[in-house]
Amino acid sequence: MTTTLIDGIGLLYTGDPEREEIADAALVLEDGLVAWAGPAAGAPDADERVDAAGRAVIPGFVDSHAHLIFAGDRTAEFQARMSGEPYTGGGIRTTVAATRQAGYAELAGRARALVGEMRAQGTTTVEIKSGYGLSVEDERRSLEIAGGLTGETTFLGAHVVPADMDADSYVRLVAGEMLEACAPYAKWVDVFCERGAFDGDQTREILSAGLKAGLGARVHAGQLGEGPGVRIACELGAASADHCTHLTAADVDALAASETVATLLPGAEFSTRSPYPDARRLIDAGVTVALATDCNPGSSYTSSMAFCVALAVREMRMTPLEAIRAATYGGARALRRADVGWLRPGARADLVVLDAPSYVHLAYRPGVPLVHQVFQEGLLLE
Ligand code: NIG
Ligand code: FE
Repeated sequence: MTTTLIDGIGLLYTGDPEREEIADAALVLEDGLVAWAGPAAGAPDADERVDAAGRAVIPGFVDSHAHLIFAGDRTAEFQARMSGEPYTGGGIRTTVAATRQAGYAELAGRARALVGEMRAQGTTTVEIKSGYGLSVEDERRSLEIAGGLTGETTFLGAHVVPADMDADSYVRLVAGEMLEACAPYAKWVDVFCERGAFDGDQTREILSAGLKAGLGARVHAGQLGEGPGVRIACELGAASADHCTHLTAADVDALAASETVATLLPGAEFSTRSPYPDARRLIDAGVTVALATDCNPGSSYTSSMAFCVALAVREMRMTPLEAIRAATYGGARALRRADVGWLRPGARADLVVLDAPSYVHLAYRPGVPLVHQVFQEGLLLE
């Protein structure tokens, strides 16, 4: 098996809590995995050599929250918001109508293009949710498409109640026939637990049914106001509570006492002109924090993890180290993955060579394309 040595790494951010940063580093890749990581002076020989020429290397970003299966356009809604309209989540139904109208090839093509956009910007693991179908067949189809692009597929039938149904019958459908049709294509179940979407009882019912069907749980919680979502996520052992923009003291305590990751999505606050989540309060309480794009046509139409890192540093007072950690290691924790999000022996060789001497430049040089090379499972992407 061919081995590849990447040396000349000015600064390696490993994502491994035991040894997070190594200056003048090298990596050896073998068989799609990291075989060795450490100071370049001690690197073993390899068949091939790549010279990073002093650049920084980071693990590929783990984007643990994205809604990529959709059609249509919501530019007008964004424009209205930028003129002062509030974001309510009401536009989800606009995307549902367009998504139901679209053919399989169109939906798959658009999602594939977004994943390509992400990969070019250094994202090597992405979670993809359904949630713009909201019928048994449209949700199943969305998850089938998502499954062609990632193993991290999430059934979000409980995004909103569709216009043509009452809430009780819809919750019954989601937890019953729709779950049954979607579970074979999904790894996770998610609920938008928010006033105007699903309340605490409905959230519990749908997540419990998903868990019973063998899926893992994750929750959209506290995006627009305080609510029961975070506590339910912690109670049910969800991998992640996402958004966490509005939190009570009890929510923070519950997160700190659980294995549930708080996934922060600053692209949504940016694009809805809302106050950012209090990352400092979570980190200081000992909660594991992840950063993700929430890429979707309504509240956060960005595919850039680097942009989210810059927002987290500038607007949420995370240090550059905390932000890169949340975008790699944190995302992997939010997906309960031990094979990605860090570069240590045995992990997948998913990594980004930055056109910069340090990961700090992701925040220091916002909006600048700093990706020099992306390796996915040891292979250099063209
Ligand atoms: O995570 N909050 C619910 N879902 C998305 C928004 C979806 C939309 O507006 O289309 C979110 O922000
Ligand atoms: Fe979301």
